[in-house]
Amino acid sequence: MSYKEVYGNWKSDPEAFWMEAAKAVSWSKEPTKALFDENAPIYEWFKDGEINTCYNAVDRHVEAGNGEQVAIIYDSPITGNSAKITYAELKDKVALLGGALQAQGITKGDRVIIYMPMVAEALIAMLACSRIGAVHSVVFGGFAAHELATRIDDATPKAIIAASCGIEPSGVIAYKPLIDGAVEMAAHKVDFCVILQREQLAADMVNGRDLDWHECQQGVAPAPCVPIGGADPVYILYTSGTTGQPKGVVRPTGGHIVALHWTMKNLYDVDPGDVFWAASDVGWVVGHSYICYGPLIHGNTTIVFEGKPIGTPDAGTFWRVIEEHKVKTFFTAPTAFRAIKRVDPDGEFVKKYDLSGLRYLFLAGERADPDTIEWAQDQLGVPVIDHWWQTEIGYPAVCNPAGIELMPVKLGSPAVPVPGFDLRILNDEGEELPRGELGAIVIKLPLPPGTLPTLWNAEDRYKSSYLDAFEGYYETGDAGYMDDDGYLYIMARTDDVINVAGHRLSTGQMEEVLASHPDVAECAVLGVKDALKGQLPMGFLCLSAGVQKSNEEVVAECVGLVRKTIGPVAAFKLACVVDRLPKTRSGKILRGTMAKIADAEAWKMPATIDDPVILDEITEALMALGYPQK
Ligand code: COA
Ligand code: AMP
Repeated sequence: MSYKEVYGNWKSDPEAFWMEAAKAVSWSKEPTKALFDENAPIYEWFKDGEINTCYNAVDRHVEAGNGEQVAIIYDSPITGNSAKITYAELKDKVALLGGALQAQGITKGDRVIIYMPMVAEALIAMLACSRIGAVHSVVFGGFAAHELATRIDDATPKAIIAASCGIEPSGVIAYKPLIDGAVEMAAHKVDFCVILQREQLAADMVNGRDLDWHECQQGVAPAPCVPIGGADPVYILYTSGTTGQPKGVVRPTGGHIVALHWTMKNLYDVDPGDVFWAASDVGWVVGHSYICYGPLIHGNTTIVFEGKPIGTPDAGTFWRVIEEHKVKTFFTAPTAFRAIKRVDPDGEFVKKYDLSGLRYLFLAGERADPDTIEWAQDQLGVPVIDHWWQTEIGYPAVCNPAGIELMPVKLGSPAVPVPGFDLRILNDEGEELPRGELGAIVIKLPLPPGTLPTLWNAEDRYKSSYLDAFEGYYETGDAGYMDDDGYLYIMARTDDVINVAGHRLSTGQMEEVLASHPDVAECAVLGVKDALKGQLPMGFLCLSAGVQKSNEEVVAECVGLVRKTIGPVAAFKLACVVDRLPKTRSGKILRGTMAKIADAEAWKMPATIDDPVILDEITEALMALGYPQK
């Protein structure tokens, strides 16, 4: 069937389409129908079915006789360690950890926070939670204690599962002090922590609260898979919004399993048994969907890679992994390729490895610039497929569906809507725009299975953030247009979310942190273009009267404050002090104009500007920071 036919089939009867897709996974109680819309605009899928995520990801493959197949390859160039875990071994491991959690009182519906680096145990922890019906919330290791505390207070977990440390090229990052700090800071108190002691740095344990990963599993009964309601949550994943309060994206169990399973063949073109590698982190949605759940639910082999595209040990590390583990489909962020291209522009490392088994490269998480795509195509000789999605959606919404039909690649476009997604481009009045015109990218409700039904404990915020702007549509927060062939082009965010090295960050959140500095009277943070990371945050600070410190001192303190409060992942290193910020006469800071000046883009003097001279001062400050960059 062609893409057009599959998309048409979905559109003519979504209910039948998803009921058919649901047959490919194992239910303990089959759903009688797909969509439950009685609480619209809150939509639920497969609500009257019962299913278990871990059973679908692990046990059913063992029961089907594939227990000896490798489920997880752990490859850690940063430590020099590697390991392979078969589906049968994985089943034992998740059942034991699940049993240990149950023995400590964790039951269906309880939340568990996971704060781990890229080790196989991170996946084991996620699967153990989903096995016993506990709702996990993984927090990315690059977030600081304060961010962890915010998530503890929102998710109110009974337990935290963590490792003693993470390992970055800059050195060993002690996780335990961050966890202790977060537990201390949070108003909600967890019952216990399970700590995986890594050989690179052992953590001090808190008596009566902290349990050793291995010791707590001694002598416990392995946990069976607990049936979960089709629409009940499997996990919560926090993502950046416009304020310091992250949004808890809820992932429903049944739709998640069905949709991820469907994407593995139809979009990524892998068959069970193939090796699928997403080089991301379990702390991001890519890690949830395509390091852990998607490949395992589909019976693929997944890779947990603890390293970076360059420097661990060199720019050939991706190619080594692809050759050694026979990767068929590879997925990463464009930033990783920009980093490799920068140190190995002629692809000398690529030539050293046999990449003949590789069939596709998929890129997502940020705009894939045509230069990077072309370089990757030339070097790897495989289709390079840009695809678009977001944490809230959970899997690709716009993609070149390689497993259905490889459509012509158009540079700069992630291609066409995935079945399940009816994408439209609207103007501010909510009217549909003709092809080629730029507007807000929205998706007609209901969103398909596996997408967020709501935000954790925040239904009103869900509605005001995503549904209120355009009645009957989900607002993606991205702006773009569609061409005459139905290809989508993503141009910008419509809010203050920025993408730094494929990591989603909120400039509004950074402004809140900067504003908390006692010497800062007013501030603005923008995303400016960066040749490696796509974007970088840049801060403009107006100081309170009478500050005695030098501007450099305040800037250094502010940089330190963002790192301490949000974490190193914010990559907030560029900031300057200015006398005033450019504003409209009604007081709105002209961030867009400032960003255009920084990016050396054409800009027009806003008609509503209060005092145009301020833009000259901003231009000078930017030049002092080395912007616009050549
Ligand atoms: N735990 C602790 N610290 C972390 C971390 C983690 N899991 N991940 C990142 N950090 C730290 C980094 O060490 C760095 O700290 P520094 O300021 O002391 O150098 C900081 O957070 C910023 O990290 P990052 O933005 O990743 O920059 P980098 O210079 O370390 O690496 C790349 C740059 C391009 C190599 C890297 O970003 C990369 O591999 N990106 C691939 C894209 C990707 O995986 N995106 C995920 C979404 S698909
Ligand atoms: P996240 O929730 O972290 O996955 O970030 C989602 C956001 O990243 C989207 O809303 C886009 O702004 C951006 N994004 C993701 N994929 C792409 C892509 N292929 N092209 C352009 N922007 C993208």
